[in-house]
Amino acid sequence: MISGKSKVCGVIGCPIGHSLSPFMHNFFSEKSGTDMAYVPLPVEPDRLFEAVRGAYALGFSGMNITVPHKQEVMKYLADIDQSAETVGAVNTLVRQENGFKGYNTDAAGLKRAMQEANITIQGRSCILLGAGGAAMAAACVLAEEGAASVYVLNRTPVRAIALSENLNRRFGRRILKGADLTACSDIKGSDFLVVQSTSAGMEPRADTAPVEDPSFYQRIHTAVDIVYNPAETKFMRCVKEAGGRALGGLDMLLYQGVSAFELWNPGVTLSSSIIKEARVRMRERLEALS
Ligand code: ATR
Repeated sequence: MISGKSKVCGVIGCPIGHSLSPFMHNFFSEKSGTDMAYVPLPVEPDRLFEAVRGAYALGFSGMNITVPHKQEVMKYLADIDQSAETVGAVNTLVRQENGFKGYNTDAAGLKRAMQEANITIQGRSCILLGAGGAAMAAACVLAEEGAASVYVLNRTPVRAIALSENLNRRFGRRILKGADLTACSDIKGSDFLVVQSTSAGMEPRADTAPVEDPSFYQRIHTAVDIVYNPAETKFMRCVKEAGGRALGGLDMLLYQGVSAFELWNPGVTLSSSIIKEARVRMRERLEALS
């Protein structure tokens, strides 16, 4: 029950109507006995500065930041944690005395989700679709966990090239290569590990996939789609129909959410039974929505 003393957190994004984060965080609050409420906050790109400043003035304890604001928001923060500095994108804000501090819990969330699904990155040839804030987190995970090579393919190729050069410099190894999304038809090789990090295929545009060429899907061994709504994206269906394995974004959402919740509520640790129950309830909710 919300009281006069409840901590308030929220998620800023555009669009935000299909987000599962309010359900997840309010579930965590209820089950862990934490006096915290979490609300969806639709914010257009040209209102982001006002929104962050306004949320601070309104006493928000923390925020999540999602598409398309994860990089832009970095300009409006009092401090940036190393987790976000490394990735170059912020998905979690924590209230401090002089403003919000930005963190990134996406990379840790994706790494844990892939580990729990027994997906090995070490030595693999990888393709990363997309070059936004979520892609930066995924690229860091792939590079840190020892991918042999990563093609970063994006609709706007300059972003893919910039992301690749940036990370190659940071890791001191030339393993990432940026190109246009259409280059997926020309890349040689098979058995790729693919991470899909574009917002194509996300509700309410569930009938789209970032790549339509069927021959691309033949060359995928395992794929992870960062999109969690719908539970099975068109991209995942294409991978499975071509004989590959496809994991959705629900576990990444869950684990990045656990880290954010624990940052907003120091001293609270979500038990494995709460996390397990949250996963079941979130899956049910997604199925009910589809
Ligand atoms: P975030 O920071 O949350 O990842 P973003 O920076 O807006 O959000 O990134 C969204 C990603 O999805 C980008 O890679 C975007 O491609 P562009 O850089 O060309 O904009 C990609 N994207 C969005 N809609 C797409 C579509 N219909 N087809 C292919 N890629 C798409």
